Amino acid sequence: MYLAAVVCVLAFSRATLALDNGLMRTPPMGWLAWERYRCDIDCENDPKNCISENLFRDMADRLAEDGWRELGYVYINIDDCWSSHQRDKNGQLQADPKRFPGGIPKLARYLHDRGLKLGIYGDMGTLTCGGYPGTPMDKIDIDAKTFAAWEVDMLKYDGCYSNATEQEQGYPLMSKALNATGRPIAYSCSWPAYQGGLPPKVNYTQLGEICNLWRNYGDIQDSWSSVLTISDWFFENQDVLQPAAGPGRWNDPDMLVIGDFGLSLDQSRSQMALWAIMAAPLFMSNDLRTLDSRARAILQNKAAISINQDPMGVQGRRLLKEKSGIDVFWRPLSGNTSALVFFSRRDDMPYRYQTSLATLKYTSGSYQIYDVFAERVMPTLKASTDFVVSVNPTGVVMWYVSSPAGEKHWTPTSNALPNHFL
Ligand SMILES: *[C@@H]1O[C@H](CO)[C@@H](O)[C@H](O)[C@H]1NC(C)=O
Ligand SMILES: *[C@@H]1O[C@H](CO)[C@@H](O)[C@H](O)[C@H]1NC(C)=O
Ligand SMILES: *[C@@H]1O[C@H](CO)[C@@H](O)[C@H](O)[C@H]1NC(C)=O
Ligand SMILES: *[C@@H]1O[C@H](CO)[C@@H](O)[C@H](O)[C@H]1NC(C)=O
Repeated sequence: MYLAAVVCVLAFSRATLALDNGLMRTPPMGWLAWERYRCDIDCENDPKNCISENLFRDMADRLAEDGWRELGYVYINIDDCWSSHQRDKNGQLQADPKRFPGGIPKLARYLHDRGLKLGIYGDMGTLTCGGYPGTPMDKIDIDAKTFAAWEVDMLKYDGCYSNATEQEQGYPLMSKALNATGRPIAYSCSWPAYQGGLPPKVNYTQLGEICNLWRNYGDIQDSWSSVLTISDWFFENQDVLQPAAGPGRWNDPDMLVIGDFGLSLDQSRSQMALWAIMAAPLFMSNDLRTLDSRARAILQNKAAISINQDPMGVQGRRLLKEKSGIDVFWRPLSGNTSALVFFSRRDDMPYRYQTSLATLKYTSGSYQIYDVFAERVMPTLKASTDFVVSVNPTGVVMWYVSSPAGEKHWTPTSNALPNHFL
């Protein structure tokens, strides 16, 4: 009964409430400009890639036309460097008039017409990280009202140029101000990322009450070492972070860099698998206009997305960190199902890792396994039977595991996805 018992403990230990705006009951999915496009404002020389309404419209077209929206990727999020260096004569933020000639309201309409949502960026200091006007304490109300009037759907509130005292006041104040607008606006807080270290100086219970998601750690970069450093930090601190997450309130290890330049095919699968286990927001930061088919297949993998989006919303954990360099991760899913990830830190060759479901604390019985990236139903597996998975260097094998009680959901002889994913 170990597995069922753990599910119950995880499921019922969440006495705390999520931010009460009804949003993001599963981790948000979409696209975010920062990692790939940064503060490129040189539209004269780099018109396809500069931070401008054209870039966000291009990405919106791709989300709407290339099958992303139907899979749940609906947010198009602006990051830093969108605004003019000056507020307007009424003291309101305004978009850079050259790069956003239609202004933010027109861009929001363009997205809404396509069934998408718009995210915008602000900063609780005097300036944003990129040096644009910030939203310090005395500007919180006016900026929240402006974002609502523009029909923005999400705010990422960064923390450059503010100190800990101001953050302690400002992050809750912005939450109240957004609520007071009457428009449901999802709220992403960078607060913990500025508080450093663990045990956290930030109160995660409070965070869950005021924010829908929060960046816990530094920015992701387009490299495997960055992805690995971030995921190691999250799993090393899982005792603190894991219970903080749940429907409406998510830890955010930052963007997916799949489809950029830094990750191999195996490393791309590893990022997708680990972000699914972590119940992480899936914000891609890549060029959807030129994405290659292998990156697309990983990002559009229905089983991986379904695991990420499980309605129970329980974040997964690392179960084992083996001397061999294999880590095993587990996430409980609704309907008595679960996900397992076998990850290799090795740099030599595919490693044949031998274990059994019983060793991984599954109760006795037969299980149906779906191999997420091989897209294949495996033969029925008894908990007591040893099996071997071959895990590539810096790669993963990811399984969706149905419990004995869930067998009726399967047609084990077919290679079709289990009903759970349809
Ligand atoms: C504002 O907060 C109240 C109480 O928590 C909640 O019922 C309401 O739905 C919230 N409104 C918005 C727009 O977030
Ligand atoms: C934080 O900034 C505020 C406003 O600039 C200032 O009054 C306060 O002394 C600062 N607090 C700390 C701890 O530095
Ligand atoms: C953390 O926040 C919660 C909810 O706001 C509060 O009840 C609790 O007392 C806080 N814990 C600490 C240590 O401040
Ligand atoms: C989950 O497992 C428990 C205990 O094994 C069982 O009582 C329950 O009916 C199962 N639920 C589903 C949805 O299969």
